[in-house]
Amino acid sequence: MSDLYAVIGNPVAHSKSPAIHAAFARQTFQLIDYKQLFCEFGAFNATVQAFRAAGGKGLNVTVPFKHEAFDLATRRSARAEQAGAVNTLSFDGDVVAGDNTDGAGLTRDITANLGCALRGKSILLLGAGGASYGVVGPLLAAAPAALVIANRTVGKAEALVQRFAALAASSRLAACGYDALGEQRFDVVINATSAGLAGDMPQLPEQLFAPHALAYEMVYGKTTPFMQFARARGATVADGLGMLVEQAAESFFVWRGVRPHTAPVLAALRDEPAATRAAN
Ligand code: ATR
Repeated sequence: MSDLYAVIGNPVAHSKSPAIHAAFARQTFQLIDYKQLFCEFGAFNATVQAFRAAGGKGLNVTVPFKHEAFDLATRRSARAEQAGAVNTLSFDGDVVAGDNTDGAGLTRDITANLGCALRGKSILLLGAGGASYGVVGPLLAAAPAALVIANRTVGKAEALVQRFAALAASSRLAACGYDALGEQRFDVVINATSAGLAGDMPQLPEQLFAPHALAYEMVYGKTTPFMQFARARGATVADGLGMLVEQAAESFFVWRGVRPHTAPVLAALRDEPAATRAAN
């Protein structure tokens, strides 16, 4: 008998999670059945409870339900509490455990797949929406020298910095608008805005990238204006497909206690582009 899992969202038809988890299961000889679960707006709790009643063991949660999943969880991991959102639910008897694997997926892609250590680096995070909330904790845990969060709406970046100030330890944590970035240069620039999905990008200064900088775009499946901007200024450019696969691997580990090899799954996905964002 296979254990039942699904990705729940609206929309959800575009999700690559079923293919990714099926590949992980084949590779690790885990007996799981992983489906897509479309959910009407306003019906999250009822849909989840029906899935549980049918024997479901766990859910990946995508847009726009990560906050409802947070509220539904009866027990939450530290990283879910930090993010204020849940992308991984596990059901065990009466317990609904909520976790968030987005940030771990990002840092693992950057450090393990792209070979870019974050300790002591100067990081710029673009955007202060839900995608940024999910990754600030794990970025700070990597002990960068600085983490600057820039956003069009500066107050949202400031609120994010306030929320994480206690976790900054020896890292300089600061918020600003794009125009206040001035002459600062960064080793790693992460685009967590949703601008790329609409073919847009934040207004960035010309000399943003330090030598050998990494420019990380959370959108995958298309070349965004941010990626073009970064490439034209000499940065190494990565899209969010690796983050997508790594957050899935982390969820798989949470559920099954087994860590799949991500490289072959990532390589297979590279062949089938479809634009969306890793933290969605
Ligand atoms: P999500 O939860 O998917 O991150 P969100 O919470 O709506 O979505 O946040 C979207 C982020 O992308 C925000 O940081 C937003 O900036 P504002 O807070 O100023 O709205 C940013 N964003 C979206 N479109 C943008 C654009 N064209 N230029 C700059 N930033 C943009």
